[in-house]
Amino acid sequence: MRGATILGTGRALPPRVVTNAELTALMDTSEEWIVQRTGIRERRFVDPGTGASDLGAEAARVAIERAGLTPKEIQFLVFATLSPDLFFPGCGVLVQEKLGMDTIGALDVRTQCTGFLYALSVAEAYVKAGFYDHVLVIGAEVQSTGLELSTAGRDVSVIFGDGGGAVVVGPSEPGKGILSSHLHSEGKHARELMVEAPASIEHPRISKQMIDDRRHLGFMNGRSVFNHAVRRFPEVIHEALAGNGLSVSDLSVVIPHQANLRITQAVAKSLGVPPEKVFSNIEKYGNTTAASVPIALDECVEEGIIREGDLVCLAAFGSGFTWASSLIRW
Ligand code: UT7
Repeated sequence: MRGATILGTGRALPPRVVTNAELTALMDTSEEWIVQRTGIRERRFVDPGTGASDLGAEAARVAIERAGLTPKEIQFLVFATLSPDLFFPGCGVLVQEKLGMDTIGALDVRTQCTGFLYALSVAEAYVKAGFYDHVLVIGAEVQSTGLELSTAGRDVSVIFGDGGGAVVVGPSEPGKGILSSHLHSEGKHARELMVEAPASIEHPRISKQMIDDRRHLGFMNGRSVFNHAVRRFPEVIHEALAGNGLSVSDLSVVIPHQANLRITQAVAKSLGVPPEKVFSNIEKYGNTTAASVPIALDECVEEGIIREGDLVCLAAFGSGFTWASSLIRW
């Protein structure tokens, strides 16, 4: 079977920077609390009228160009987001339209913080199997329109930010590119990190009462998420290495989902690698869920942190709970 590799990467961050100081003016929080507990100093929020599909399309344009392709040469696309422009249809079809692509298949993935890695695994499988030669993979989020910017929502709202990232996956020689993907879920924790409404289980799906009860806003049991994350990240990275007969010492860089700087530091410690081997940019963008891994990957490529021949491990953990890794020989 042929291999599958990343041919180009791109990212899109809204220009509007929101500092911790700005949030401090809106709720009972402090610069010190946010930086100490999360590592975040600022994040980006979109201006009204910009959706996840816009950020995704912008990142995709860059990734396609860097892959040396045009949108017409993309044969399939996968879009991961928890914050779609519409309840349905998903963002994939919106990107197909925005980029003027042919009437290709457009698949939406809803596994939240691990969405990009699930989406990447779909592209990997299609390309390795010879179904398609060029698959676009996007992770993009607009979190800011779903945040409660007041003291009642402070545990969630200081963490999240908006952004988009994309890659193009294409064929490679075997043993080069994406070596393997490892995907997991444990639905018994579904309600530990969720947005409940609109909910098809309710009649009607959304009501004034539900809004008054704040059921349309994010709920997070931060401690539980934290404790599972620090266990699952190293576990799924070790799984990827073992599956390829490799070890931690072979790793050039780990790019984890940017959930919290303390989680990233705990991952480095648990793996026994120096902190600088585990990439972090959370201080600039906050947690952008499905967008964080492709944004970080694009920055690593641009800054020369990843070079040809490097062994790169992407890893993520989040709502579901879901967790995943992808091991790449660059
Ligand atoms: O992408 C995956 C999704 N999410 C994550 O990965 C998040 C994982 N969890 C975390 O990152 C951390 O649990 C948080 C950053 C969310 C919270 O940190 P923590 O150290 O677990 O704090 P805590 O929830 O135990 O709260 C400690 C205190 C509480 O006050 P009391 O009960 O000790 O008086 C909170 O009410 O901090 C309070 N608090 C805040 N104070 C100031 C909660 N949010 C804030 C805030 N500013 N924004």
